[in-house]
Amino acid sequence: VIDIRKLYAETGKFTYDPGFTSTASCDSALTYIDGDEGVLLHRGYPIGQLAEHSSFMEVSYLLLNGELPSADELAQFSRTITRHTMVHEQLSVFYRGFRRDAHPMAIMCGVVGALSAFYHDSTDISDPEQRKISAHRLIAKMPTIAAMAYKYSVGQPFVYPRNDLSYTGNFLRMTFAVPAEEYEVNPIVERALDRIFILHADHEQNASTSTVRLAGSSGANPFACIAAGIACLWGPAHGGANEAALNMLKEIGTPDRIPHYIARAKDKNDPFRLMGFGHRVYKNYDPRATVMQQTVREVFASLKVTDPLFETALQLEEIALNDPYFIDKKLFPNVDFYSGIILSAIGFPTAMFTALFALARTVGWVAQWNEMISDPGQKIGRPRQLYTGPAQRDYVPVDKR
Ligand code: ACO
Repeated sequence: VIDIRKLYAETGKFTYDPGFTSTASCDSALTYIDGDEGVLLHRGYPIGQLAEHSSFMEVSYLLLNGELPSADELAQFSRTITRHTMVHEQLSVFYRGFRRDAHPMAIMCGVVGALSAFYHDSTDISDPEQRKISAHRLIAKMPTIAAMAYKYSVGQPFVYPRNDLSYTGNFLRMTFAVPAEEYEVNPIVERALDRIFILHADHEQNASTSTVRLAGSSGANPFACIAAGIACLWGPAHGGANEAALNMLKEIGTPDRIPHYIARAKDKNDPFRLMGFGHRVYKNYDPRATVMQQTVREVFASLKVTDPLFETALQLEEIALNDPYFIDKKLFPNVDFYSGIILSAIGFPTAMFTALFALARTVGWVAQWNEMISDPGQKIGRPRQLYTGPAQRDYVPVDKR
């Protein structure tokens, strides 16, 4: 009888790395992170500079094509994306099959996967032009699909895309415009949301991107692969953390209750964690959280609004950053800590937060997927395991057990 565990130990055949904390699964030229220094670069450009000076369309072009576009290239790219914003009318029928109280991420998983049933040409992934069209379709249709999920949940009619608006302005209108009423896109809100999209555009081999790559490595349809990424993103340890962080801040309420929650987060017997805190790669302040905090201030000042939860969040951050537990474990606010406050101020319900993350991350997913398929050395992803079950044994008939 072979003792499989002994065999592994003797041959040292596999690297055991649960959670892939130190295993690189691919080469990628898209995004660089230095987690110790709190650095994030897209194609070499620092995230802070992109958030301040660029637009989500430009960053999308950069991620897909490797270089910043010229003015003409950007205009052409924006036109191409705009042309693809509509979804097939039959797709709207899908929504009506969901309960009105379905979580938008549940709807997104289903609807985005269903796009593969509408674009039969997308299965030809060996053709770079065809891959580009799939990428453009996905980037263009995500705002429409996310806005429709929202409209469905509030019982309002769907609002069709309007192609004279910007990518983000169009999304705001499809989400918040009500038929027969005037809707003006607020440029401050539009800029803030566009910046939030930039901050979420890509983040190298996080769980959802790795899911998209793994699904895509079998040659699966790109729409189905992105649906897999959406499913993974939904979890509260990943993209669902923005929703969880705001819910946590609401639960904490006022700053006087912070010490109680800090104590809970430190208690090994309590599963509670500070949501929006900690990161697998960043062992320093997440540079996206810095921009996010600054954006909250700008939006509040411009819209002349405030939210007491922002004060609670700032105090929570200060207390945590001075607490030996968080210092020793290098736990800092991540991108999700402040995003909920600003999305809430714009008017999005909490359940939409992760859908917005999925919308923006789609560009990273498709860029990573395309990079993988373009790689001549690409193989199907197939992790191994260390078997821990019983050694080989003989079958025992049921009357002898
Ligand atoms: N609150 C309290 N303690 C924490 C937290 C937290 N938010 N995060 C990590 N820790 C502690 C863990 O209990 C663990 O302690 P131990 O070593 O004594 O067991 C230690 O720090 C390391 O934590 P791990 O879970 O092993 O680290 P990992 O890299 O696997 O997890 C993760 C990273 C999932 C992000 C984690 O920090 C977490 O759960 N944070 C809260 C959820 C969150 O904000 N997720 C968003 C991530 S960013 C994004 O996806 C866009």
